[in-house]
Amino acid sequence: MIKVTRSNKPAISVFRVCALAASMSVFATATLYFAGVFNGDKVTAQAFVDLQQGSTVHAGFRRAHAKGLCVSGNFESTGLLSAYSTATVFKQGSTPFIGRFSIAGNNPTAPDLKAPVRSLAFVVNTATEDEWRVAMNTPPVMAVATPDAFYKQLQALSPDPATGKRDPAKISAFFKAHPESKAFNQWKAGYTPANSFATEQYNSINAFYLHNAQGEKQAVRWQAVPSMSEHEVAVLDKQSPDALQQQLISQIEKQPVRFDLKFTLADSNDDENNPTIPWPSSREVINAGSLVITGWGFQNEGACGAQNFDPLVLPKGMSATADPILRARGAAYAQSYRRRATETLLNKSKTSQEGAGDASN
Ligand code: HEM
Repeated sequence: MIKVTRSNKPAISVFRVCALAASMSVFATATLYFAGVFNGDKVTAQAFVDLQQGSTVHAGFRRAHAKGLCVSGNFESTGLLSAYSTATVFKQGSTPFIGRFSIAGNNPTAPDLKAPVRSLAFVVNTATEDEWRVAMNTPPVMAVATPDAFYKQLQALSPDPATGKRDPAKISAFFKAHPESKAFNQWKAGYTPANSFATEQYNSINAFYLHNAQGEKQAVRWQAVPSMSEHEVAVLDKQSPDALQQQLISQIEKQPVRFDLKFTLADSNDDENNPTIPWPSSREVINAGSLVITGWGFQNEGACGAQNFDPLVLPKGMSATADPILRARGAAYAQSYRRRATETLLNKSKTSQEGAGDASN
C-alpha cells in the first residue's frame, strides 16, 4: 500500500498571487454580486467563508474541501456536443487537464472515510479564453436553492461550540422548514459511499447553458460517470486516514482512471435555475467524452494546489444560468482563494526574512 506523506505546507506561487491581485476588479464585482447588491441575498461571501472555515483556521488551505489530491490527464472529446456548443473543448480531440479529488470540510488532515461528500474538480485549456473550470460533488442536487438558505443549512449542521457535537434537533428543524430538501434527503438515505474516488459519480448539480453556432442555447447538467466498477478497485485500507488517496494513487499507477462526462439536456419543463429539483431520467443524455487520469501529485506540490476551480470560468460556447447558488459560488471561491494565497505569501516572506537574518548572524 502506498504511504501518503504530505507536508502541512500549502502551495501557491507568488506568480499566482500577483495574477490574483491583477484580477481584483473581477473579484470586487463578484463580491458585490454575492453581497446582495444585485440579487437581494443577505449573506456575503466573507460571512460564508468565515462560517465554512470554522473556529480553527488552517492557514494556506482551502476553506472548503481542504483535503485533496491533484491529478492530471487528458479530456478525450467525442465531438458529440459540438452541435450544442462552439467551445473548442467539445470538438473531437484530446485536451490536457489538471484536476483535484477532495472531501468536503475545512480540515486538510480529516479522515477520508468520514466525509459525507466527495468531489472532483478539473480545469481544461488552462490560461486560454477557452478555459473551462468545473467543481462537482457526489450529491446530484442541493438541499436548498438560495445562498441564504444554504448558509442557514451550514449553520444548522455546525457543531455546537460548547459540546463540539452537532445538534440533531437543530438539524431536523432546519430540514422541516425546507421541504425543497426532499430530493436531496432521498438521495442521502439511499447513498452508499463507493470504495474509491475512482468509482464515485460526481455531479455538476447546477445547470449551465451550451451555445451553438446558430445562436441557440440549451440548458444542461452533467455527471462524471466512472468506467471502473467497485469489484475492480484495490482494497481500501479502512484504518488509514488517507485511505481514499492511497487507493487512488495505487489505481492510477496501475492503469489510467477514466470517467465519462455525460450531459443531460433539459427540456422546457425543467427549471435550470433551481438546483434542488432532479430532472427526469427520460431526458436525452450525450456522452461528451472521457476524462482519462494518468498522473497524480500531492496538493502542496501538484499543479492543482494553487488552482481556484471557480465554476463561473467558462469557455466561449458556454454560460452560467441565473441559479443563485451557482452565481454565489464564484465570489466565495475567490474569497477562500484570496485568504489562502495571502497566508502562503506571508509565510514565504516570513521564511525568507528568517533566512536573511540567519545569513547576517
Ligand atoms: C453557495 C454555495 C457554495 C459555496 C458558498 C461554496 C464554497 C466553496 C469554497 C469557499 C470553496 C473553496 C474554494 C478554494 O479555496 O479554491 C469550495 C470548493 C469546492 N466546492 Fe463549493 N461552494 C458552494 C457550492 C458548491 C456546489 C453546488 C458544488 C458542486 C457542484 C461545489 C463543489 C465544490 C468543490 C468540488 C470544491 C473543491 C474544488 C477544489 O478542488 O479546489 N460547491 N466551495
